[in-house]
Amino acid sequence: MSESFTLTIDGVEVTAQPGQSILQAADAAGVYIPRLCAHPELEAFGACRVCTVKVNGRPQAACTTPATKGMIVENDTPELNEHRRSLIEMLFVEGNHFCMFCERSGNCELQALAYRLGIDAPRHDYQYPARTLDGSHPEVFIDRNRCILCGRCVRASRDVDGKHVFDFVGRGKGKRIWIDAESRLADTPLEGEDKAVEVCPVGAILRKGAAYAAPIGRRLYDHDPIGADIEAKRVGAPAAKGGKS
Ligand code: FES
Repeated sequence: MSESFTLTIDGVEVTAQPGQSILQAADAAGVYIPRLCAHPELEAFGACRVCTVKVNGRPQAACTTPATKGMIVENDTPELNEHRRSLIEMLFVEGNHFCMFCERSGNCELQALAYRLGIDAPRHDYQYPARTLDGSHPEVFIDRNRCILCGRCVRASRDVDGKHVFDFVGRGKGKRIWIDAESRLADTPLEGEDKAVEVCPVGAILRKGAAYAAPIGRRLYDHDPIGADIEAKRVGAPAAKGGKS
């Protein structure tokens, strides 16, 4: 068996195992690297670039870059966090994210990242695109207004559920998540318990009948910022911080 090795993230020496990405090594060491498209149960995809770190001075996606011995990784820096704020602001304006009316509010990774990174309001104009919803399925609905094209549902449906219900169509601004049926989600083999439904980081794919199940005060990110669960693994680490850096 290959031996573990060390690398440095933000000046902290971290032990990694062969085959781990920078993101996986950081998670195991209790160092939070912001991410949206990555999910611990899914193959890395490298779509959102929120996890961009600097490796030996060069920008790399932490979720798709293998950890190697002696790497010097910068993660929590003003420059990289500004880059992340920019990406998240663009996601907010290119979709229709009305958090105050969204049943994922408080449990949404996009919203939680915006709070963690100290985003008050996007610096770009809202585009208010015309997007479609599909409420035909008895257990699940899709609201493409909130989709951030992370591809988690695509990978989960294909690799975990073994169904390939979702995929991308179109390019550039016209890119959308679509379904493996002529027109209706109800005509796909999707089930409410599918991993593809569970892993959506925003309110784009939701189970029906579960809205607002957790009241304000008991939602996932009501008390601790996103990433606090990872940072709690770090021995002697200070409490997770919110706001700008
Ligand atoms: S989390 Fe790495 S590119 Fe999205």
